[in-house]
This record gives sequence, C-alpha cells and structure tokens, in this order.
Amino acid sequence: MTLESFGKVILFGEHAAVYGRASLALGLPGMRLVSLATGSAETRVRVRPWNLDESTRSENAVGRSLQTLLARFPGKSGHFEAEVEAFIPPSAGLGSSAALSVLLARTLAKHANTILENETVRRLAHEMETVFHGTPSGLDDTVATYGGLCLFRRTGWTEFPGFAKDFKAVTDTCLRSDIPTPPLVIGNSLVPRSTKTLVAAVRKEVESHPERAEGRLDAVERCTFEGARALLRKDWNALGKQFDRNHAILREFGCSHPTLETMIDLARKAGAKGAKLTGAGGGGCVVALAPGREADVAESWSSGGFDVVFMANPDKG
Ligand code: MEV
Repeated sequence: MTLESFGKVILFGEHAAVYGRASLALGLPGMRLVSLATGSAETRVRVRPWNLDESTRSENAVGRSLQTLLARFPGKSGHFEAEVEAFIPPSAGLGSSAALSVLLARTLAKHANTILENETVRRLAHEMETVFHGTPSGLDDTVATYGGLCLFRRTGWTEFPGFAKDFKAVTDTCLRSDIPTPPLVIGNSLVPRSTKTLVAAVRKEVESHPERAEGRLDAVERCTFEGARALLRKDWNALGKQFDRNHAILREFGCSHPTLETMIDLARKAGAKGAKLTGAGGGGCVVALAPGREADVAESWSSGGFDVVFMANPDKG
C-alpha cells in the first residue's frame, strides 16, 4: 500500500482559523513514501525535491518534530530511514510541514507494523505542527490527513447549519466531501516567509486592536461561508468575489507582500475572477479562480518569473 499525505490550498480563512473562525481548504497531492529502511542508529528523513536530509539528531524544527513523533508514538518501534517524494514546494503556504508530519506518522506506523486510525495520525501530526508553528489551528494537519474539501473550525462543526447535506462529519471538528477540482491556478511567488512569524504578527494586531481585529475575523468567516456556498453551486463569479474580499482583509492584517499583489494583478489581467494569497502569506503562494482562463493565468505568472505549482484541468471541470 502506498503511503501518502496531502498538501492543501486554503480557499478561505487562513489566520482566522487560529481564532476559531471557519475556514475552507482543499487537499492537493502532497507527499509519498518512496522507500523505508530499518536498522539505522537514528530516525532519518530525506525529501530530495526539497534538499531536505534531517534526523532525530538535527537541531532544527524537523529534528525536534521527529523526536516529538517518536516520543508520542503509541507503541515500540526503533529507528527507520525514509525516502520521500514531494509534490508541493516547501515553506510556500501549501501545507508542507503538515504533509511531512502526516507522512512520517504513517511511515512510523508501517515501520512498527501497526495500523493507526486517521484521527491518531492527525493528533500526532498536530503535535509535530506545534513544533513547527507554535499554535496551529489544526486546519493544515486535518487536510494533510484526510484531503478532500475541508470546512473546518477548531471549536467544532455542529454550528454549520446548511452544510450538513454537502459535507460529511469525519471528526468532531471537520466536515468534508469530495467535489470536482474547481478551476484554480496556484502560483509560487518564491518570496520566502515563515508561518510562525506571520501568525505572531496577526496575534500582535489582535491583541493591540481587539475590536477592529475581531470584526475583520468575523468578516473572514462570512467569506468562508459565502465562498463555500458559491463553490458548491459552481457560481464562479460569487466565489471570485469572496476570494477578493478575503484577500483584502488579509492585506489589512499585513499578510500580503508587494510581489503577491503583483501576482494578483497579473491574474486579474489574465482573466481570473478573483485571487488571494493562500497560507500564512508574507510571500509564498497565490491562488486564482480562472474558469476557462487557467492557462492564461499560468502563462502570465510564468512570464513574470513565478512558479506555477498547480493548474486545474479545464476538461475535467
Ligand atoms: C497556515 O497554513 C494557516 C494559518 O491559518 C495557521 C493555522 O491555521 O494554524 C495561517
């Protein structure tokens, strides 16, 4: 059985998710275990496309998260060496650390000849994500575990009236269903950023101007609900409008970057119905909604020197 985990594109609600607001994210092809060797003196992971080669002895976030995994794993295991393939770039807002965490938890289970429930995988990955990001909402580790379309709120899903028939409750905090991939294009600005730093900057804003910030977070949640409804009925005009609204609020929170604004302008000029930063922002990726104009948006980004990470196949609608 191939071991996999998902990357993700947050359609709505990044940062707001940390403050208990609803968010919506879609799973992307993330990571895959290529080979697993046993009998090593330390646990080691190699992700060739990321130039990553770390072990439990590494004094960095990957090393510490590996140690966390081994310490929390329910069962005896010993060490292993894993070679991993990645389909998303690292540190670009597409859930690379959560995808790695989930894949490592599944790899350790395979190595220990144990079957882990998805919920256990998610819980382990959440602990590893805490090492990477400090205060993760749980959105990334949830999508990395389950994939699909996740309408997520860390405080619980039961208060999502109107969505019960479209989503299935798979945990106490997450609703999910499989839908055809919407006409999205995702581009990487290649501007480096840190989720931890961006989350801390938003926290500073929330603490210093609570009333203003809470109002913005509520407005983001309205984008999530409106956007989710628009997505389910394939109303691309309405969905694009919500992308733009959500991005404007993220910009007010200081999460954008001049290069992201350039990419968003390029996408609009190339026919996108809406575009926003995705993930923590400050760099990383932009997602554009471009029904019938996917290739034009991709071309405008490539010509501008940006990486096209994902483009929906228009024929598959
Ligand atoms: C990062 O991918 C998403 C954030 O909302 C942080 C989180 O939800 O933990 C910025």
